[in-house]
Amino acid sequence: MACGRGTVAVWLAEHGFGVDAVDVSEPALAAGAALAADRGVGEQVRWWSHDLDEGLPDGCAGPYDVVVCQRFRDPALYPVLAQRLAPGGLLVVTVLSVVGDEGGPFRADAGELLAAFDGLTRLDHTERDGEASLLARRP
Ligand SMILES: C[S@@+](CC[C@H](N)C(=O)[O-])C[C@H]1O[C@@H](n2cnc3c(N)ncnc32)[C@H](O)[C@@H]1O
Repeated sequence: MACGRGTVAVWLAEHGFGVDAVDVSEPALAAGAALAADRGVGEQVRWWSHDLDEGLPDGCAGPYDVVVCQRFRDPALYPVLAQRLAPGGLLVVTVLSVVGDEGGPFRADAGELLAAFDGLTRLDHTERDGEASLLARRP
């Protein structure tokens, strides 16, 4: 989700995953595709040029063993991220947070990730220095 230049997508592909990588930025996707090709995993990543304001692409139905969304926050998509996980699948989310920072329109309220994903099993959670991260597993 919001994969940017694809560093995580390529890392996952290098570790044997087939990956759907979604971002609205064509230059970022092109950089990701070039990186994947350079690392020899070009066939393992599908790059989706898509505006996540419209939800996930229809072709990204999952279920996924891993869902990663880092440094992109859209609370409207939180339920979709959880739904797309396979049983036992891992969710990794990092967003800006008001905790330890001055706040602003793009920052999560304290405890936002814990509340949004309370149906998952929490494995790790940190919230400090203006950033919140959650690692959780679908039961
Ligand atoms: C701060 S970057 C994070 C990129 C990557 N997740 C990382 O951690 O390196 C935010 C990303 O979100 C993407 N983005 C912002 N709004 C988006 C939207 N509405 N739909 C899809 N991607 C979006 C940007 O193009 C950018 O690649």
